[in-house]
Amino acid sequence: MQNINDVRNKLIAQVADSDNPREILKTTELKQLYSVIVTLPVEERGVYGKSINELKQALELAISSREAALEDATVQPIDITAPWDVNTDYPSLLPIEHGTQHPLTLELETIIDIFTRMGFDAIESRQIDDDYHMFGALNFPENHPARDSYDTFRTEEGFISPAHTSTMQNRILVNGRAKLEAGGQIAAVSYGRVFRNEDIDATHEHTFYQCEGVFVSETANLGQMLGTLRSFFEVYYSQKLKIKTQPAYFPFVEPGLEFAIERPVALGGKPGEWLEMLGCGMIHPNVLAAAGIDSTKYRGFAWGGGIERLAMLKYGIEDIRHFESGKLQFLRKFL
Ligand code: FA5
Repeated sequence: MQNINDVRNKLIAQVADSDNPREILKTTELKQLYSVIVTLPVEERGVYGKSINELKQALELAISSREAALEDATVQPIDITAPWDVNTDYPSLLPIEHGTQHPLTLELETIIDIFTRMGFDAIESRQIDDDYHMFGALNFPENHPARDSYDTFRTEEGFISPAHTSTMQNRILVNGRAKLEAGGQIAAVSYGRVFRNEDIDATHEHTFYQCEGVFVSETANLGQMLGTLRSFFEVYYSQKLKIKTQPAYFPFVEPGLEFAIERPVALGGKPGEWLEMLGCGMIHPNVLAAAGIDSTKYRGFAWGGGIERLAMLKYGIEDIRHFESGKLQFLRKFL
């Protein structure tokens, strides 16, 4: 009898794990139990046979419930509202809608690729920052009217959505200081979303992207900066370009410049038509000092410009608002 109980427990456990539980009825252990009957004295056969029958019933019950569970697991839920037959087993027959990368992501990748090939590190900018990185570290005096040109949004706690990627300058300088002191140089670009409290029109958005460059060494100079920028623009637009600069005021550079290119004829321009692309200049000694860099020993240059306007010229996009519109008709042109 002990043997019957052992076999029963073992087989029921096997049923619970089996994908084909009915097979277990054919197991040799069960057959052996049956074959024992004829070897027993007649008076014992009744009790023994009853125990085996009980075992068989328990096993049948376990098998049926296991079969039901297996069947439930293989039934697919049917979505009768689906516009096509999701219930077929042929995923390759389903219509597939491919997403695309946003045109600004593609442009950013191109831009970052050009600068990293020139030896710049690339760092994504923050989308929420503080007053110090937005103004203090960038040599904006308290209450200075220049702060008004960077009118942006603030949280109730006083955090700022950055109006330009220059908020990353101090971090780039602080992080690069050790490299500089070890005889190297700081070369990094920072890219990301910026925000301005701006009246929007075909060339002004409240949310747009900028890319900022920072370079510091013992010998950095404007000639290197203009060479770097010219190389970038000529690679980006795949042609030789005419460039010019004119003085501009930014508290964090001295001298400060606006950098313009002549709109290429191939891109719909007329000779003499200049497009201002970005702001730039030699990093102000106060900005270097705020990052703990000795401004008598090191000098640097920085620039910052909008990504949308670069792409608009490259692709002949007439309105900056297309980028944030989410219109598929626009986005699919950049497949
Ligand atoms: C700045 O944001 C400075 N941080 C640039 C800079 C960096 C100067 C480092 C010196 C050293 P500005 O406000 O001019 O500067 O903006 C720079 C570029 O951002 C513009 O040339 C333009 O390409 C883009 N830009 C500015 N405002 C908008 C806007 N509302 N919509 C789209 N692009 C804009």
